[in-house]
Amino acid sequence: MLPFRFEQVTSKNPEDVALAIETMQIRGAPSIGAAAALGLALAWSVDRRRFSDFWLPRFRSTRPTAVNLFHACDEMEVCSKTEPDAATMIECAVNYADAEVDANRRMGGHMAELLAVGERRILTHCNAGWLAAVDWGTATSGIYQLAQAGESPFVWVDETRPRLQGSRLTAWELYQAGIDCRIQADSAAAWMMAKGEVDAIVVGADRIASNGDVANKVGTYALSLAAKEHGVPMYVVAPSSTFDIACDSGLDIPIETRCDEELLSMSGVGSDGQLCQLSIATSGVRCNNPAFDVTPYANLTAIVSEQGIWNRGEPEK
Ligand code: MRU
Repeated sequence: MLPFRFEQVTSKNPEDVALAIETMQIRGAPSIGAAAALGLALAWSVDRRRFSDFWLPRFRSTRPTAVNLFHACDEMEVCSKTEPDAATMIECAVNYADAEVDANRRMGGHMAELLAVGERRILTHCNAGWLAAVDWGTATSGIYQLAQAGESPFVWVDETRPRLQGSRLTAWELYQAGIDCRIQADSAAAWMMAKGEVDAIVVGADRIASNGDVANKVGTYALSLAAKEHGVPMYVVAPSSTFDIACDSGLDIPIETRCDEELLSMSGVGSDGQLCQLSIATSGVRCNNPAFDVTPYANLTAIVSEQGIWNRGEPEK
């Protein structure tokens, strides 16, 4: 419902949590992982008998691309093998979520160091903020930490078609935090780079293959091509839970395709303040709606995680 309404939802059974992930009530790679861990702890409490055969596969099938979901399920599966009591399973899930918060804070510190050397007009895509990552955010953590240190970062916010995670979520987060930002159409990004108005691109990730290729919200790959052309540094910021060492390259990352409806209609608030759905294209026309794309490692300046910074260097042309 953001940015029109902020509501907190309490899920009292595991199916509600699985549905919240599936319908993107909760989204963003680290948040999906944390929600799955908590949902599985709930499943252990209320339906332990079906934990392995039903609930683990149910959660693993909610979304395909963000590997954090699968790492969280694996961790809860390992914890379940010791036949713990309900409180121990909950503690395991809460520890998983807390570890993400700590990772976000630490990777933001590394990112803030990179940005502190003059790269202050930052372009970001999608929402890699605290809504997506339990707390702080991944891409936004460094921006928040710079602002807390008394600096004045400025953010170009790609609106991020079709679900508008940029204009609806990232711009809302930054505005609430008093950080100067401007929403722009995704198609404006390359032109702003050409005009020399972007000092750095900072995005999150949904899965990082062992060769460094990165899956993130669709549009990230195009940004990397424009960044390379215009010599703009591009950083990916993500916790260890986003790395998939079993995945050799970006070609092996499963890319989610979402429904046509996301391109045929849009939700918003009418003059009566009520949420409504608007048709914006010919109903019935078929659509192509990949939710993610893959950016080759070669197009990136650095990957930043809580453990440090990889491949710091000038963008290769
Ligand atoms: O489809 P979404 O909204 O779950 O996609 C989210 C993204 O692509 C984010 O950029 C990514 O998960 C990094 S979030 C810290």
